[in-house]
Amino acid sequence: MRISLDEAASLLRQGQVVAIPTETVYGLAADASNDAALQQIFAIKQRPADHPLIVHIADIDQVQHWVTAFPLLARKLAEAFWPGALTLVLPAQAHVSRVVRGGESTVALRVPSHPVALQLLKTSGLSVAAPSANLFTQLSPTTAAHVESGLGQAMPVLDGGPCTVGIESTIVAVLENAAHELEWRLLRPGMISEAEIARVAGIPQADVAHAQPAVPTPKVPGQHALHYSPRTPLQLFADSDALVAACAALTRQQVKLACLLIGDEALPRLPSLHIVRLPAAPTQVAEQLYGALHHLDSLQVERLLVQMPPDKPDWLAVRDRLSRAGHQ
Ligand code: TXA
Ligand code: MG
Repeated sequence: MRISLDEAASLLRQGQVVAIPTETVYGLAADASNDAALQQIFAIKQRPADHPLIVHIADIDQVQHWVTAFPLLARKLAEAFWPGALTLVLPAQAHVSRVVRGGESTVALRVPSHPVALQLLKTSGLSVAAPSANLFTQLSPTTAAHVESGLGQAMPVLDGGPCTVGIESTIVAVLENAAHELEWRLLRPGMISEAEIARVAGIPQADVAHAQPAVPTPKVPGQHALHYSPRTPLQLFADSDALVAACAALTRQQVKLACLLIGDEALPRLPSLHIVRLPAAPTQVAEQLYGALHHLDSLQVERLLVQMPPDKPDWLAVRDRLSRAGHQ
């Protein structure tokens, strides 16, 4: 059910859950300070309670309300990348709901850049916790229609058009090590790359292998191997040659197939009836990836064959999502 921005703001203030657009993926939003509202997110998504939520705030000035410390390193990242697809994990104030923190001592914060999301945060006067608006482990939605097909037509959705980044935000934890030096760790890759973060931070990512035992890397409970999955079994191929060979063999066995190819290289004619080709640029593939997978999943074939993009830093986030989608 599509709703207006004013309706979304008023539902959120009444403690209801609504789906909202962000530039990354659609989120299932609730007032981040209302435990009963937050519990509904977990119930609707069928998400385990120990998976913390990201709190979306209207601007950088609101960080102090949520955290016990906003170190310079984190401030530099926020100033460089907000509003935008970066989530910062920082030590939480005691008042931050345990439901949001999923039992962690930290809180994840992000200022989204989507104009409708920002306007909603301002109009409602709230900060909203929002995981992706899909059932636990399923594909994230990048359009209002994806939300409705995954969560049902009765779900109130604020339609902000298709998401332009297309995959979930980069998550970075900023922490102090045993020597009281600030360091950062990438908890989830996204379209803001490790290299861009290192450049702004002025230091490389902390070496996890040599981490002091006193400074555990915050866990990211949402980082399941099986995540972002279509319903159709999905098989990944390191290159198009391997995919073409598998396509021919499976077709001989009369397995119904659909294929996702990346790049525009010329290929021998594929027997598969359903082929989606994405461009060779990582940002464009990210933008279109979930839409392509939602489409392929709706074809009701027996198997999806997906070409992995090259193992290069620019493709890290897309490869991460595809690997998880392909994990059987
Ligand atoms: O782009 C995004 O980040 C989207 C949009 C809606 O903002 N949201 C999103 O939320 O992807 P979700 O719940 O699907 O993923 C949030 C991730 C999970 O892996 C969760 O475990 C992690 O953030 N997370 C949240 N709070 C955390 C914390 N305090 N410490 C470590 N990880 C945290
Ligand atoms: Mg998610």
